[in-house]
Amino acid sequence: MYRTHHCNSLRKTDVGRQVALAGWINVTRDHGGVIFIDLRDREGLTQIVFRPEENAELAKQAHTLRSEDVIQVSGRVAARLPGTENPNLATGDIEIIPSEMKILNRSDDLPFPIDTEPHNEDLRMTHRYYDLRRPRLTRNLRLRHIAAKATRDYLDSQGYVEVETPVLSKSTPEGARDFLVPSRITPGKFYALPQAPQQYKQLLMVAGVEKYFQIAKCFRDEDLRADRQPEFTQIDIEASFVTPEDIFAVTEGMLAAIFRAARGIEIKIPFDRLTYREAVDRYGSDKPNRRFGMELVGLEETFRQSSFKVFRNALDAGGVVKAINAKGFATITIGQADELTEIAKLYGAKGLAFIKIENGEWKSPIVKFFSESEKAALRSKLNIEEGDCVFFGADKWEIACEVLGRLRLRIAEMQKLTPVADVWDFLWVTDFPLFEWSAEENKWNAMHHPFTRPKAEDMSLFDEKRFPDVRAEAYDVVLNGVEIGGGSIRIYEPELQDKMFEALGISPENRQAQFGHLLRALHLGAPPHGGIAFGFDRLVMLIAGEQGIRDVIAFPKNNRGMDMMSNSPAEVDPRQLRDLGIKLTKEKKL
Ligand code: AMO
Ligand code: AMP
Repeated sequence: MYRTHHCNSLRKTDVGRQVALAGWINVTRDHGGVIFIDLRDREGLTQIVFRPEENAELAKQAHTLRSEDVIQVSGRVAARLPGTENPNLATGDIEIIPSEMKILNRSDDLPFPIDTEPHNEDLRMTHRYYDLRRPRLTRNLRLRHIAAKATRDYLDSQGYVEVETPVLSKSTPEGARDFLVPSRITPGKFYALPQAPQQYKQLLMVAGVEKYFQIAKCFRDEDLRADRQPEFTQIDIEASFVTPEDIFAVTEGMLAAIFRAARGIEIKIPFDRLTYREAVDRYGSDKPNRRFGMELVGLEETFRQSSFKVFRNALDAGGVVKAINAKGFATITIGQADELTEIAKLYGAKGLAFIKIENGEWKSPIVKFFSESEKAALRSKLNIEEGDCVFFGADKWEIACEVLGRLRLRIAEMQKLTPVADVWDFLWVTDFPLFEWSAEENKWNAMHHPFTRPKAEDMSLFDEKRFPDVRAEAYDVVLNGVEIGGGSIRIYEPELQDKMFEALGISPENRQAQFGHLLRALHLGAPPHGGIAFGFDRLVMLIAGEQGIRDVIAFPKNNRGMDMMSNSPAEVDPRQLRDLGIKLTKEKKL
């Protein structure tokens, strides 16, 4: 037996007991020959004291111990001397007086000290198995486990059945690039790793499973960010004979169960709801961060007849004029103004007009174009006061909203407006557009995916091909400004699915080649169905209070898609390529 207890279990009431512990040397201190060791396992720390006068041989051995050596000790639990207790440690009242020690393994020089947060992430990732010993990351892995378990328990209690779907599968059009896997047995053909189990879960509804879920690995070859990984995990859900209300209810219950288990808190359900139109109009984003104000205010009425050309022209062209008031931001520096102007231009604005209110004066080159009544209207609509700074966007609705939405987030960062305390702002965003225009491909694409159902009320708009106006039965869950989940009610009628493919410019031949199986399934009595998927990594990231999903994934990729630890992706043996019938072009060979 290696141990009788873990390193966070012994208390004053255990004084006098004979125990055995095993773990890693967290720190060793030498106080004039007496060696103090903090022994660490995944649960915590316990102090071991080697006194030469008690056991000279052991103390000599302890002298050779270094951080991260692995040992086993047996000994007696003793009370620490009065005044030497450590109130910051759960085991701080006791220490172990060892009678025996086994050095199980020695550690080399460490890549970085375990009690620091190294800035070099690649260094951390190269030695991830060591990095993960840090308590913050150990805690994150366990939070992830608790969240997964709560998910399974809750969905099971609601009659959902976990079904695994293939990883070697066929490309699903989820909007990102696929990872491909060459087939050796059928040379020249490829599997695709699933971007999501979307088609499989719909096929499971045709199969009569009725209530499906899966904690599923998904793969997307896209550019990486703090909240994006090439392989990530979804809580994937699908059910038959459901309306959006059914999906909302099961989802809210599941999230409540997860937060109860992982954080011990009751979140407020049901969640607020905003339509896509309202969310973008008020927050300039389809994933609004509502934890601070600074909402977008429409100024169309104010400037309809304005003599300020920039605003007037935007309105005459059918656009909008909107503004946000950054309270107390008249302190804006030239550098900040330049950065905000760059952001505005990046998202399509032609410029960025703003007004600082300082010493009772409105400071901006554009103020001279405003009439007294325009100023009065601005003052009341935007609640303008001394010290404020007001930013304007005059453009097409989409551009003006997006620009001000981006500025709003950046200004909130500059002003440090986001609360640090636990505020959990859950929100449903509903009624997304069914289509979005791709200027690049010069065609309509599905905003969510091609299986998403148009809203019943908008079916006639669909028939009239008024694509920009058609809304989808699609919804996202937003938590604190992060999109944590999204889903929709699906098309189950083969005719409607065909019409959708046609609108997306997918030829009948391609429809058969890519989606023949799904179309055939829809012809065999597909029930009405719908579902949702959550970004599990993002959810755990928020629960853990982390800034990026890498900190809640055991072995993540870096922002170049590399696994630094195993050095993957890597070259392969030419024989493997030959087996697969793959020849690398010169440029790629390096
Ligand atoms: P969607 O593409 O919106 O929907 O994905 C669902 C959720 O998955 C998370 N997510 C990611 N997390 C980490 N890294 C990524 N690269 C990444 N991409 C997405 C997001 C997102 O909200 N099949 C549909 C769901 C459905 O219709 O039921 C789907 O995959 O949090
Ligand atoms: P101009 O008449 O181009 O010199 O612009 C006058 C002011 O309005 C400048 O501060 C511009 O940055 C700003 N501006 C120009 N176009 C827009 C726009 N579409 N939205 C908001 N401000 C703008």
